[in-house]
Amino acid sequence: MKSFSNKVAVITGAGSGMGRYLAILLARAGANIAACEINKTSLAETVALLKDYQVKVTSHILDVADKAAIEALPEQVIAEHGAVDMVFNNAGVTVDSTFENMSEDDWDWVFNINLQGVINSSRAFLPHLKQRPEAALINTSSIFGMIALERQSVYHTAKFAVRGFTESLAKELKSSSVQVHCVHPGHIGTNIVTNSRMNQSEESAGSLQRLVGKVMGLGNSKEELAAFFLNNGMHPSRASQIILNGVRKNRSRIMVGTDAKLMDIAQRLTPMHYEKLFPLFTIPLTLLRNKKPIKGMPTEDTTATEQTA
Ligand SMILES: NC(=O)c1ccc[n+]([C@@H]2O[C@H](COP(=O)([O-])OP(=O)(O)OC[C@H]3O[C@@H](n4cnc5c(N)ncnc54)[C@H](O)[C@@H]3O)[C@@H](O)[C@H]2O)c1
Repeated sequence: MKSFSNKVAVITGAGSGMGRYLAILLARAGANIAACEINKTSLAETVALLKDYQVKVTSHILDVADKAAIEALPEQVIAEHGAVDMVFNNAGVTVDSTFENMSEDDWDWVFNINLQGVINSSRAFLPHLKQRPEAALINTSSIFGMIALERQSVYHTAKFAVRGFTESLAKELKSSSVQVHCVHPGHIGTNIVTNSRMNQSEESAGSLQRLVGKVMGLGNSKEELAAFFLNNGMHPSRASQIILNGVRKNRSRIMVGTDAKLMDIAQRLTPMHYEKLFPLFTIPLTLLRNKKPIKGMPTEDTTATEQTA
């Protein structure tokens, strides 16, 4: 897909992080936006940020874990926009906890958003995407869909599955008009830790802390991890630009960030011990990476969201 102009893009999780900047960058490129988000405050903020672009913007309060709501969404978007050309299944959350101490409720929360939400949305939108002369389905996995660390078992389970699902779908749709993309970000500076759950009754530190925390003096609380995560990753506008370039170039696998690329190489080189290599590059990359937004983008992205749908 060479141009986004006059296309209609559905984006889930559009109230924060990569979803918000995908919306801004797509609107800047002339695409009409159906912004979907569980949090009505952050959704309204994103919509306000789109007001200067000469495109149609609709906002949809949506819980991607709600199957009936996802099934109803294509009709609502088509009623407003006339068609759908791109679907970004971007919404995601995590729980930082060992598997043994994770409640079933926490497991289901992540699984239903990160995996079932992607599958149900793909199922609901595909028939409509296939009617378009060119279309794209963009599912967000993670570098955690390629490597696994402790305390992220449910996130890994969902993100590995998103990758398998999306790669299979890409092969099935190879000769159709629908491009299928799987996105694998590394560390992007977003609110994902703020928006996620953490088992703070456990003594051992989170996987992120093990990677870089000891060297950088990072504490163990959710607040400290959330601030560290937001302030030390690639700026989400840069990540969103990389994702959109991948769609333009029809790359079925979109790696976002040098850390993601090096982690992928590490797991190919040493499939059982790759995490031992990570500090060699994650620490320098955390210090050196460009954390500033791309030109013309709003800087503040500090919405501490509360799930409201
Ligand atoms: N930030 C990273 O380092 C990173 C790395 C790899 C993958 N990812 C993935 O990228 C995607 C975007 O995450 P982000 O980092 O921008 O996080 P974020 O928390 O800034 O944004 C995610 C958005 O999804 C929304 N959301 C949560 N549950 C929802 C639901 N049930 N229905 C609808 N919306 C919901 C949140 O309210 C939030 O606005 C996620 O799938 C995440 O797993 C992020």
